[in-house]
Amino acid sequence: MSRRGKFIALEGGEGVGKSTQVKALAEALRKRGVEVVVTREPGGSEGAERIRELVLTGSDDRWSPEAEALLFAAARNDHVEKLIKPTVEGGKWVLSDRFVDSSLAYQGGAGGLGIEAVREINRFGSGDWFPDRSLVLMLDDGAERARARDAGGGDRIGGRPGDYHHKVATAFRIIAAEEPERVKLVDASGTAEEVTDRLLQAIEDLLP
Ligand code: TYD
Repeated sequence: MSRRGKFIALEGGEGVGKSTQVKALAEALRKRGVEVVVTREPGGSEGAERIRELVLTGSDDRWSPEAEALLFAAARNDHVEKLIKPTVEGGKWVLSDRFVDSSLAYQGGAGGLGIEAVREINRFGSGDWFPDRSLVLMLDDGAERARARDAGGGDRIGGRPGDYHHKVATAFRIIAAEEPERVKLVDASGTAEEVTDRLLQAIEDLLP
């Protein structure tokens, strides 16, 4: 049997340069001989991509906070079952652009449901499939707000007011303090190369 791969998530608020870093980190891992499958949330499997449509489009009040959290959790269950579990159990790594810590920060922290309540519904949905390491790209507060304003307008959640995104950042800090081994905050300032180096340092102990 092949050894279990690792499961890494890249997280952060709006416009912190996450998509650039997903590509750069995947490339850096491949250079180190790691076979990595890149995926994203909401989405990553056929069913979850359908739910993505439902949860990211339409008016802000299309879903109650509870329904929104459950939709993300339902999509995540499908993503885990269809893609993440078979890939990691088959020995490859998975790098996901967002995962459960987005739900904890957005729906739990900013959306007012509470981080622990959202952790619970995701435990029900995805069992032990929490990332081995969740890397949260962070900018200082002023920069975070400006980027959120510029970057987030496109969908139901990104388009929420600055105060919501401020609470997202606060919640990421709380989650990292609660689970310091699993969740690491990574400074997203500086050049793309500098940020990629910091990400690699934050998973150094997991590298082969
Ligand atoms: P996406 O288009 O993937 O944007 P981004 O580049 O910011 O990742 O949009 C995902 C949006 O959904 C983003 O605003 C964060 C939000 N989200 C949640 O609120 N909860 C979740 O569990 C996930 C995975 C995403």
